[in-house]
Amino acid sequence: MVDVILGLQWGDEGKGKIVDYFAPRYDIIARFQGGPNAGHTLYVKDKKIVLHQIPSGIFHQNTINIIGNGVVLDPVTLKRECELVSSFGIDVKKNLFISKRTNLIVPTHRALDKASELQKGESKIGSTLKGIGPSYMDKTGRNALRVGDIMSKSFTTQYIKLRLKHQKLLDNFHFIDDISDWEEEFFEAIDFLRTLNIVSGEYFINEKINSGKKVLAEGAQGSMLDIDFGTFPFVTSSNTISAGVCTGLGVAPQKINEVLGVTKAYCTRVGGGPFPTELNDETGENLRKVGNEFGATTGRPRRCGWIDLVALKYTVMLNGVTKVVMTKADVLDSFKELNVCTAYNINGEETNEVPFQLMQSEVKPQYKNFEGWNCDSGKIKDGENLPVKMQHYIKFINQYIGAPVAYVSNGPQREQIIKI
Ligand code: GDP
Ligand code: IMO
Ligand code: MG
Repeated sequence: MVDVILGLQWGDEGKGKIVDYFAPRYDIIARFQGGPNAGHTLYVKDKKIVLHQIPSGIFHQNTINIIGNGVVLDPVTLKRECELVSSFGIDVKKNLFISKRTNLIVPTHRALDKASELQKGESKIGSTLKGIGPSYMDKTGRNALRVGDIMSKSFTTQYIKLRLKHQKLLDNFHFIDDISDWEEEFFEAIDFLRTLNIVSGEYFINEKINSGKKVLAEGAQGSMLDIDFGTFPFVTSSNTISAGVCTGLGVAPQKINEVLGVTKAYCTRVGGGPFPTELNDETGENLRKVGNEFGATTGRPRRCGWIDLVALKYTVMLNGVTKVVMTKADVLDSFKELNVCTAYNINGEETNEVPFQLMQSEVKPQYKNFEGWNCDSGKIKDGENLPVKMQHYIKFINQYIGAPVAYVSNGPQREQIIKI
């Protein structure tokens, strides 16, 4: 049986904290897509940790963590992260497994990402520059190197072949950065990777499922960044929705049970692309300040705005969400009034659907206004003690999106979560 936790907006919904909270109920936590573009924050003994490649269950001694075939893996980031996790007394050689079919990010992928963004100029995606797009291109282009390849004697030859191919592309971009330092650390990290548990992920996970073990699949990014259904081309390069669990781990659809969708009580986006409810004013500034909305991977200020129920209902539909987790409700504590977007007005026409092109300039969000609850919600432990005005806000969202908000997160710490 596989449950899923994934983001319903444009990423950074608080998935890391929520996975860490639920992890003790599972035997295995599995990342199924994305790569080091992810930044999942959790707190261990009051220390803030940001994970990019390793699943967010790694701090629980009895939980197995697996990096699935749908992930793109940067060995350098992985090595660094393993060192961090080990400093907390976690044995990564015991608790971490990596699928042989996971695609590798090589140094020239990062260079190509940078070159491609530079060439796009004003219309750049705002990529994290971690090499995600180019490495997924090599996967679908059938050129990629995979983790299983590092055991082969011909790995270096395969690497050189791919590097030469990339060099021609970089020459076309007139890209001249010296990446020899990156290569040196890449090969050191490959040596380290060889010491970890490398497995046939699809057999590994299915054997566990068949013996009654419980798996939690951890999504990265958010559904509005999905390569097929997100705000293309301002998206990432993988399927971030629940369908990605099947291809990203090798599990069949009927094995999937609960899908927990995580949404903030408002909305943020980092990088370029449309964001209908964005607030380019003092309220937006306040959300950024109170919510500490700065990217966990790149440190960039996140764009902030009201919750968008048109987009949320769409992503609930795409994922088959069974329960919603609403995070950062405490961030709204001090706001006198709140808005929720219930429709888009596009060129004078009102719609409740996410259109093919969601270009910001044409879309006017239609809002329903709520009074803020104006009290400190961070210490509340029970659903019935939530401010009545917050309960109204949540009830409206439940009804609109057709899925229940079952948990409210009211602070960044592990225990700051309320079941309702
Ligand atoms: P992820 O990528 O979905 O895991 O989210 P990030 O870690 O990138 O960003 C979420 C940020 O919000 C992190 O700094 C978390 O520590 C913080 N956070 C998570 N849940 C809550 C919450 O309920 N309240 C507050 N105030 N912060 C939260
Ligand atoms: P987590 O897992 C927020 C955004 C980038 C950019 C676009 C494409 O922490 O929620 P990419 O590097 O994937 O080519 O960038 O996607 N992006 C994220 N935004 N959270 C993330 O991950 C993201 N991963 C990528 O900012 O707009
Ligand atoms: Mg993040």
